[in-house]
Amino acid sequence: MNIKNVLAREVLDSRGNPTVEVEITLNGDIKARGISPSGASTGEKEAVELRDGDRKRYGGKGVEKAVEGIQTEVQKAIVNHKFATQKEFDQFLIGLDGTPDKSRLGANAILALSIAFARASSLANKIPLYRQLFDRERYVMPVPCMNVINGGRHADNNINFQEFMIAPHHAPSFKESIRMGEEVFHTLKDLLRKKGYATGVGDEGGFAPNLKSDEEALEIILEAIIAAGYQPGKDISICLDPATSEMWSDGKYQFFKSDKKELSSDEMIQLWESWIKQYPIILLEDGLGENDWEGWQKLTKKLASQIELVGDDIFCTNPKIIQKGIHQKIANSVLIKLNQIGTIWETLEAVSLAQQNDYHCFISHRSGETEDTTIADLVVATNAGHIKTGSGCRTERIAKFNQLLRIEEELGTKATFAGLETFKFN
Ligand code: PGA
Ligand code: ZN
Repeated sequence: MNIKNVLAREVLDSRGNPTVEVEITLNGDIKARGISPSGASTGEKEAVELRDGDRKRYGGKGVEKAVEGIQTEVQKAIVNHKFATQKEFDQFLIGLDGTPDKSRLGANAILALSIAFARASSLANKIPLYRQLFDRERYVMPVPCMNVINGGRHADNNINFQEFMIAPHHAPSFKESIRMGEEVFHTLKDLLRKKGYATGVGDEGGFAPNLKSDEEALEIILEAIIAAGYQPGKDISICLDPATSEMWSDGKYQFFKSDKKELSSDEMIQLWESWIKQYPIILLEDGLGENDWEGWQKLTKKLASQIELVGDDIFCTNPKIIQKGIHQKIANSVLIKLNQIGTIWETLEAVSLAQQNDYHCFISHRSGETEDTTIADLVVATNAGHIKTGSGCRTERIAKFNQLLRIEEELGTKATFAGLETFKFN
């Protein structure tokens, strides 16, 4: 791939905050774009976004410096250069940046470049992006874990925990699975309205009502599953991301919205144990915080044989930290977010390290998203079997589902739907 030109611009994400878009042109005038997403409840060890800090523009969140770095330094370094593989291109950028956390050029700049290069390569090779990322005979279509109730840092309501998701796993295809999910989503809206709750949505498109408690979120979701004609646990189960790093302070978990209590690490584990007994929960992400490694070991020992325990903030999609986690028997699954590590190649490295060690990979969007649908291709490429990319509405979330519908149609008999098996451990 010989790079003819590279352009960057400041565009906007789904929260109306600036982010970086890159356009790469290869020889033969093949042109492709990539856009970086952005998180709100970020892990401490994530690759660093470069933001201007000029409070006169976008409250300091502008990305003109990141854009300028691409238009000057990066452009000079990569235009008229050949890169044979994604690895070569991404490693070149990592070297050019020169910092361990990508803070000089910015992970937001580097990821947008990396995505644009992957997309341009797929066009040059005349293959779909998922095949460009990983060429296989057969692919697995993911279960969409739809975040139907938003709380925590993603909504201004009184729910402490961040994400209450439904996983419509008992379906013959992705297409049918997403239909089931949408039916529950719409039924849930009717139920909330009938109960006198607000039906406005949070950052990821899930409803953001003021409920009496976090438990009520589970109860009302179960009610919606049944009212939509499905059986909880058999057809549709529940996945949770309470994002507890946000609650961790002075060695305790502070419930910072409703029910202002504080729980120790052991008490949090007890809470999860009781919820798992009571509700059809098959996946728990960040059940404990990123600085509570001891608690995580206990949680894993207690619950890893029963459900999928996903590490998000604790791993930050970083192969070095994932390796340490595997060694210390932390979790049994890794959340995969492209911009936590900052390049496509390192993301694929993180996935392969996890999969080689029998950890699952749960592919994820960020709360600040765009029309970029790369994670839809990524989940198919990696056969990861499940994805979280928001709720049943808002186009920056639905764009990923629509891309998955296209991919499933294109693959035809070369694809199978993941189903409940994807959440199980042998
Ligand atoms: P974020 O949330 O994108 O705001 O970090 C997603 C998550 O915690 O999984
Ligand atoms: Zn998370």
